[in-house]
Amino acid sequence: MAKNIVIFGSQWGDEGKGKIVDILAEECSAVVRFQGGNNAGHTLVVNGEKSILHLIPSGILHENKKCYIGNGVVLDPFVFFKEIDNLSLCGIDTSPKRLGISNKTHVIMPYHCKLDAAREAAKTGSNKIGTTGRGIGPCYEDKMHRCGIRASDFKDIALLKEKIAESLVEKNILFKALYNTEPMQADEVYEILKPVIERIIPYLCDVSSAIENMDGAILFEGAQGIHLDIDHGTYPFVTSSNTVSACAAIGSGCAPSDLERMLAIVKAYTTRVGGGPFPTELMDETGSFLQNAGGEFGSTTGRARRCGWLDLVILRESVRLCGPTELVLTKLDVLSGLKEIQICVAYEYKGEQLQYPPQEQNALAEVKPVYETLAGWEEDISSCKSRAELPENTQKYLARIEELLGVPIGMISVGPDRIQTFTK
Ligand code: GDP
Ligand code: IMO
Ligand code: MG
Repeated sequence: MAKNIVIFGSQWGDEGKGKIVDILAEECSAVVRFQGGNNAGHTLVVNGEKSILHLIPSGILHENKKCYIGNGVVLDPFVFFKEIDNLSLCGIDTSPKRLGISNKTHVIMPYHCKLDAAREAAKTGSNKIGTTGRGIGPCYEDKMHRCGIRASDFKDIALLKEKIAESLVEKNILFKALYNTEPMQADEVYEILKPVIERIIPYLCDVSSAIENMDGAILFEGAQGIHLDIDHGTYPFVTSSNTVSACAAIGSGCAPSDLERMLAIVKAYTTRVGGGPFPTELMDETGSFLQNAGGEFGSTTGRARRCGWLDLVILRESVRLCGPTELVLTKLDVLSGLKEIQICVAYEYKGEQLQYPPQEQNALAEVKPVYETLAGWEEDISSCKSRAELPENTQKYLARIEELLGVPIGMISVGPDRIQTFTK
């Protein structure tokens, strides 16, 4: 019987999670997003046709699969319906029969986006986090502050209006006094939301119960990457949710023992969007090569992604935090044409060699990567169909990663299309 699968990014996001979810959805009955919001951009390519999903689970292209947005997600209802409308234009069924939102999911409100933008604008230089500006942080803040709007509040207009008014009391003081920007009125916010309130209600459901009663396996789709995790990432240059695999249970409402196969998605090199330390970043022509060959421009904001060598210290930490049963190596084709490839196997920090990232704020910006050099390969590998078909040096690269991390590579991706993937 197919097992439940958790898919998570093991670096700083954009590892190719969407593509792998789309492929593995085939063997599952439902796909659940469990954290993050429309800061995510998950790209699927089927028969050369590209779709980017920010909120709706990446299983939606498979007609007979259920898709759920779990309680751990923060949902912008306008983005949700924009995505639904685009998918409907392509003939995809996005009705509540196959797509559900947890009653407990927190809603991103217009004042969250405004606060996100105001805060980023007020930060300067290297203090800028470079958020996606989608209101993610402020929405999670309200959840923790216990004044958030949950999707089920849309069923009780009096409660909704009361909560909007209550939430705006503090926000408006910040808007006026700190950010010198216009306050928002509760009525105005309600009027903005009105068009989506009735429309969203049919999608609301008990996701926990839906997945408990599902025949067949569940696929839990993570967003962002382990080093953007609010606790374990490169704080404060992180997102505002937990991205580690354990959160698949919390963010969808099942028991941790229901999580069976844990798949760490690993890009064959490293990228990062936004601010924050990045020890193996390449500011030279190899960095530009990776950026161009890998098309490393953000799926959400279009920003250029910073690029660098594969960092095994970062990955070792992801293995420790998430317990992957296998690795999925993506974008291996991008490395073709490099004479030599470096992998970072340790950090030098204050005269010591570290196997794991240091935990103090700003310390990661001070480490020096210790590199091991491997031979590259010239061949185009984008149509390879098995590991045995790969050039010898490519196989050595894979074997060294497995050896250093102690986890097998179960799946390899050599191009953006669904078919450019093979299992071990
Ligand atoms: P996600 O956020 O983890 O889902 O990743 P993104 O979709 O933001 O970024 C991954 C990008 O790489 C997308 O443009 C994918 O189409 C593309 N991609 C995924 N796997 C491969 C691969 O194996 N090779 C190449 N060349 N591109 C890939
Ligand atoms: P996927 O799911 C890459 C980054 C932002 C910023 C930081 C905080 O496509 O891999 P936020 O808007 O979340 O408060 O921004 O996190 N970030 C991502 N980087 N991929 C993502 O998602 C990201 N989601 C957020 O660039 O540095
Ligand atoms: Mg992405």
